[in-house]
Amino acid sequence: MNEKKVTEESVYILAIESSCDETAAAVVKDGREVLSNVISSQIALHTQYGGVVPELASRKHVEKINQVITEALLEAGMSLGQMTAVAVTYGPGLVGALLVGVSAAKALAYGAGLPLVGVHHIEGHISANFIENPELAPPFLCLIVSGGHTHLVIMKDYGEFEIIGRTRDDAAGEAFDKVARAIGLGYPGGPKIDRAAKEGNPHAMEFPRAKIEGSPYDFSFSGLKSAVLNYLNHEKMMGNEVNRNDLAASFQNSVVEVLVGRTISAAKEYGIQDVVIAGGVASNSALRAAMEAACGREGLRFYHPSPVLCTDNAAMIGAAAYYEYKKGVRSGWDLNAVPNLKLGER
Ligand code: KG4
Ligand code: ZN
Repeated sequence: MNEKKVTEESVYILAIESSCDETAAAVVKDGREVLSNVISSQIALHTQYGGVVPELASRKHVEKINQVITEALLEAGMSLGQMTAVAVTYGPGLVGALLVGVSAAKALAYGAGLPLVGVHHIEGHISANFIENPELAPPFLCLIVSGGHTHLVIMKDYGEFEIIGRTRDDAAGEAFDKVARAIGLGYPGGPKIDRAAKEGNPHAMEFPRAKIEGSPYDFSFSGLKSAVLNYLNHEKMMGNEVNRNDLAASFQNSVVEVLVGRTISAAKEYGIQDVVIAGGVASNSALRAAMEAACGREGLRFYHPSPVLCTDNAAMIGAAAYYEYKKGVRSGWDLNAVPNLKLGER
């Protein structure tokens, strides 16, 4: 193997991610330089069921994990013995899926005599922004929008978070997936709605933008989803043909307006200059464009990861793990999967 010269001061982390439907491993140097980022997606497997089947996800992770880890080391041109630490997502996520990564990480770290660092999946998503934005550092405001989470968070320092808003029901990505299924676009719905919306009129239909009394930074997407379903049923009953592109564009416009509006007001109220987005929905082209424009108008700096770093991957786990490692965080050999792990808790 073409072994790299490892300098004393550099921190090399082998990171593993298996919380949902991607089996992923990466080697990250000093939290910001990705030496490899291998992702084995299970989308093809789950598509036939219209969503992630947890039991199948766990089995597929078991099948793929060793190969993905081997590839990540190979691509980085490094051996396990050259790593400084092994990091792994231990929550939140599907318990059976998380366990596969956690067990693999524990075995590798124990076998190689390396420290183990358990990472929060959402801290990983946020930290994806460090990879391509070397100047970005906390404090900043982050909108996290994925299939399972919708949060507005102030990252006060590395590993320190204040959650100022969250969804009361469906996550933003979940709303995309459910609406896509209802109009027959299939799974995962987000990228398909994104594409269809480009051909549609975002003002063709008027869908609700839910506000939550007394909680200006919370979100609710279940009413919007129901409004779309009601519209579809009504049109079907009337025997009208539905323009899927217009519907996708109008639904997406409603989600984007709410996400951008609340993020900008929070940045203003808390006096924060740097706005960051993260999670699978952060790769949505309309959200990126609208947030960029709004931040420009308000004189705020806007950061987002490349699409491949928005959806689940292990490079983001390696980035988060670096700062935890530097703070002295180490996990024990009793590290377990925590399916409902809270952000900022250990
Ligand atoms: O972050 P992620 O890979 O997994 C979770 O941690 O949940 O996010 C997956 C979610 C799915 O709901 C998917 O439909 C959505 O992100 N997504 C998108 C786009 N790409 C992925 N939603 C809207 N527009 C996109 N381009
Ligand atoms: Zn995720």
